[in-house]
Amino acid sequence: MRNFNLENSAGSGELAGDASGWELDAGPDSLAFRSAMRRFVGGVTVITTLHEGRPWGMTVSAFTPACMEPPTVLVCVNKDTVTGGDITKDRRFAVNILSQDQIEISQHCSRPREDKFVDHFVVPAEEVPGRVQMPVLKHSLITFDCKVNMTIVASSHLVILASVSSILAPAAKRPLLYGEGRYMHGISLEAVAV
Ligand SMILES: Cc1cc2nc3c(=O)[nH]c(=O)nc-3n(C[C@H](O)[C@H](O)[C@H](O)COP(=O)(O)O)c2cc1C
Repeated sequence: MRNFNLENSAGSGELAGDASGWELDAGPDSLAFRSAMRRFVGGVTVITTLHEGRPWGMTVSAFTPACMEPPTVLVCVNKDTVTGGDITKDRRFAVNILSQDQIEISQHCSRPREDKFVDHFVVPAEEVPGRVQMPVLKHSLITFDCKVNMTIVASSHLVILASVSSILAPAAKRPLLYGEGRYMHGISLEAVAV
């Protein structure tokens, strides 16, 4: 690895600059990878499961749609988490894509090894269609109720492919974003002129 100023890259995001123009110039280095990934801005989800019969949540940004027919999603969850254990055991979870109204629950559900029961954040059962099995979080942009198809163990993480059994979305809300190590608001949702 050369020309890699970790402090600068991980912190301010300022360009260090050199003759080559690369701020990051690394091989398969985990710190360089983490620093690189800070530049990726994306949505945030809370994965909900039933833990000891109660709604439990974990903040996860490693979510992507995988295919349309049938509707399938992919999430990556550290295998040593409570959520990873719940999903392995029950093969069910919901992905709640967060809106800007949900920073509080995102913070709550990202505290390692703390109690992440989310009873108070869940839409009451009588307001959710009967076919939905996993907890639906209030104010979510979208909730996908999912059933696990396949799990791959990739080092520290479970890569989980799951089919979508139900889709719930309220009237449009603004998405919560995360990148550069912080939550972000205020993106323009207007189309870029091309
Ligand atoms: C914005 C954000 C995104 C996160 N994304 C992931 C993720 O994609 N996968 C993951 O395993 N952990 C992710 N985490 C970390 C988990 O939320 C955190 O480790 C969680 O508290 C684990 O719960 P447990 O170990 O107490 O069960 C993320 C944290 C934050 C703040």
